[in-house]
Amino acid sequence: MHIDSEQLIAAAQAARENAYAPYSDYTVGAAVLGANGTVYTGCNVENASYPASICAERVAITRAVAEGERTFLALAIVTANGGSPCGICRQVMIEFAPEMRVFIAAGDKLIRETKASALLPDSFDPSTLA
Ligand code: THU
Repeated sequence: MHIDSEQLIAAAQAARENAYAPYSDYTVGAAVLGANGTVYTGCNVENASYPASICAERVAITRAVAEGERTFLALAIVTANGGSPCGICRQVMIEFAPEMRVFIAAGDKLIRETKASALLPDSFDPSTLA
């Protein structure tokens, strides 16, 4: 399937508008493309009890899984400064889609492309428990 990184980044940027980040003031948007062609979006949602906060990437992926999608082709992550995804989000990416393309953007500008397995080498993944 053709993957339009600009379109995926735009979807992540739109989701970022909904970020609830009153504590860090660091807003994040994510958009994951499922094999069925559907794009699922997420934003970070913080909490006064800080550890109860959740990252944008995990919101997008868990939304997709809840809708029945488990195969992912690409993920766009948008922040103000092109920050890298956190370790917990990398672990969640690996669970479903180690070969997924990952676009990291600052606003609407693509900073770099990588893939989930490159972000988390030598991972503990489903094969470990098989
Ligand atoms: N955050 C994400 O949404 N994704 C990441 O991969 C890194 C961090 C959020 C969590 C928190 O709301 C804010 O960014 C600052 O850590």
